[in-house]
Amino acid sequence: MNVLIIGSGGREHALAWKLANSALVDNLYYAPGNGGMQQIATCVSLNTDHHDDVVAFCREQKVGFVIVGPEAPLVAGLVDRLDREGIKAFGPSAKAAQLEGSKGFTKDLCAKYNIPTAAYGRFDNAAEAKAYLAQQSAPIVVKADGLAAGKGVIIAQTLDEAAQAIDDIFGGQFGDAGAELVIEEFLEGEEASFFVLTDGKNILPLATAQDHKRVGDGDTGLNTGGMGAYSPAPVMTDALCQQVIETIIQPTVDGMAAEGSPFKGVLYAGLMITSRGPELIEYNVRFGDPECQVLMMRMKSDLLPVLLATADGQLDSVDVRWDDRPALTVVMAANGYPGAYEKGTEIRNLGTAAKDDNVEIFHAGTKADDNKICATGGRVLNITALGQTVSEAQKNAYNALDLIDWPEGFCRRDIGWRAIQREQEQG
Ligand code: AMP
Ligand code: GLY
Repeated sequence: MNVLIIGSGGREHALAWKLANSALVDNLYYAPGNGGMQQIATCVSLNTDHHDDVVAFCREQKVGFVIVGPEAPLVAGLVDRLDREGIKAFGPSAKAAQLEGSKGFTKDLCAKYNIPTAAYGRFDNAAEAKAYLAQQSAPIVVKADGLAAGKGVIIAQTLDEAAQAIDDIFGGQFGDAGAELVIEEFLEGEEASFFVLTDGKNILPLATAQDHKRVGDGDTGLNTGGMGAYSPAPVMTDALCQQVIETIIQPTVDGMAAEGSPFKGVLYAGLMITSRGPELIEYNVRFGDPECQVLMMRMKSDLLPVLLATADGQLDSVDVRWDDRPALTVVMAANGYPGAYEKGTEIRNLGTAAKDDNVEIFHAGTKADDNKICATGGRVLNITALGQTVSEAQKNAYNALDLIDWPEGFCRRDIGWRAIQREQEQG
């Protein structure tokens, strides 16, 4: 079967790397892709916002399956269009993708189906939002309703800060994503991510992971797309996973079906483990980046049949085997990220760095030019490793990373600290 992957991040490189090992894949294409994917698949210069062009390419190259990596094309209805054309695709419909595309939509769904989440209010004007705010106490969280590339969430330490966030959002700071906003209770606890596949009816739990969203060591500095991750997340015991399925995932899948927009694809639940139990912070309707990199590193089964079964409504007929060892990934980003950064700097020594059998290097913002790899984005490389413990996976990842010659890049030095602290406490 010919397969097309849409996207260009470390997530899509990890998916391509996994699919490149599948005996069921004949030709693997990606659009727009990156320097690492160029080495294992065929790059297609398609503007994926132009659904006509994607359809035409699939017909020309007899693509039998399209895997959509990022949220934007899902929310824009690429999978609906492919469905109408009779081209099989992995990912939710635009309506179901509202679980990520509109925070207010998700909060209302949680309210209707009794899914535990922070108390909230949903507003389309500043006066009502501020009247609600006056009844609350700080810290409090203000969120632009729509897709804001991970930047639309403000954790306000005071009510004045929250009022400012309301003005900024309605003032156009996040464009159309800020036409509405959600104000919600600040949840305390440890964060974890839980990934499941669902075909609209059946649920196949995949794995847990923990991300590191802040740019600096010790979880300090600005929020980013994610500076590193590991899987599994030790905080998510089997009992807690079961509780999350029963109280959060199952009612969501059933609720979406009851609302007439069954969710098919990967459902990524961002959770807070609070003293009241696990609560939903938010849903994403795609694999996490960089969480996907650690999931693919641990997945032993062929990925293609599992994704096909999701699209075909046959998830009850497949199973996934996992490597018991934890995996950890460290993101290397261009100096300056998440602010302004230089592009076009050369990265050397990647081949040597990736020699350890326990290590894979997934590219994000890179380009291959005349046998040179150059940085083109903010998050650039994902140095991913397996180990017997999270401590060992961390050591393997940093040993490989330290062989990379890229003075214009940086990384966090403490990825995995929570799990490693637990390992040390348990001796
Ligand atoms: P999001 O972009 O929705 O993932 O939010 C970014 C980050 O903000 C999350 O990963 C949490 O760390 C934090 N956050 C969002 N909502 C809440 C909340 N209600 N309480 C505490 N932290 C939150
Ligand atoms: N790493 C966070 C995300 O993919 O949204």
